[in-house]
Amino acid sequence: MDAEVLRFERLGDANRALAKRLAEVADEAVRTRGRFALTLAGGSTPLGLYDHLAGDYPCRIPWDRTHLFWGDERWVPKTDQASNYRLAHETLILKIPVPAGNVHPIPVDIGPPAKVALAYEKTLRTFFESSDRDTPEKTFDVVLLGVGADGHTASLFPEDPILEERTRWVRSVTAPAAMASRKRITLTLPPINSSRYAFILAAGPEKASVVDLLLRNPDEARRRFPAAKVRTRTGSTWFIAAKR
Ligand code: 6PG
Repeated sequence: MDAEVLRFERLGDANRALAKRLAEVADEAVRTRGRFALTLAGGSTPLGLYDHLAGDYPCRIPWDRTHLFWGDERWVPKTDQASNYRLAHETLILKIPVPAGNVHPIPVDIGPPAKVALAYEKTLRTFFESSDRDTPEKTFDVVLLGVGADGHTASLFPEDPILEERTRWVRSVTAPAAMASRKRITLTLPPINSSRYAFILAAGPEKASVVDLLLRNPDEARRRFPAAKVRTRTGSTWFIAAKR
């Protein structure tokens, strides 16, 4: 399936629609598989969504059966301003009844990025009961992602050889010089595209060019933009707000 693009005037409208979809998927996942595996996005765009989930959805999502993961992380302490874990912890996790053992942050404090990536990959393979050799068959119920103005997603940046990775699930990368926190750990495309759903949230005119090309010429978009390479077995759904 290809990309489904849902357009909204304001980010608040996109957040409400996305929260509703998450609740529907979570309910189905828990009813049929006993748990809901959700990967959180980094960056600033999802903070309003997390706040909305914490405020309006403390009981409408089965948080007690939910497992939280991250799509990428900057190699900074969990208390650092740039930490994706810190942002989600403060805006969402502190306010919902998710069991501490169900929160699986990328372990940035255990050593250098390459060691962190190996450890997180082990966490994911154990959780999804996948041996060291297998590329992932089925991973997360939902992977939440953002997109940069250059079309990156998670910490998968344009023209990076990591985009061709087919066996490693988690790798360390160095972000382009223009990016803050250049040393990062990121999911690769296989575990992202083995998710049941991918929901991509973006707001503002600076990201419109990525969406426009995706709609006008999907093949060219897939060649140029890592975010356009996200295609799960249900495709991908883009929640696009014209304004923040
Ligand atoms: C990160 C994110 C990254 C983010 C985009 C958009 O760690 O920065 O994973 O992929 O989603 O850069 O960031 P904004 O939402 O801040 O525009």
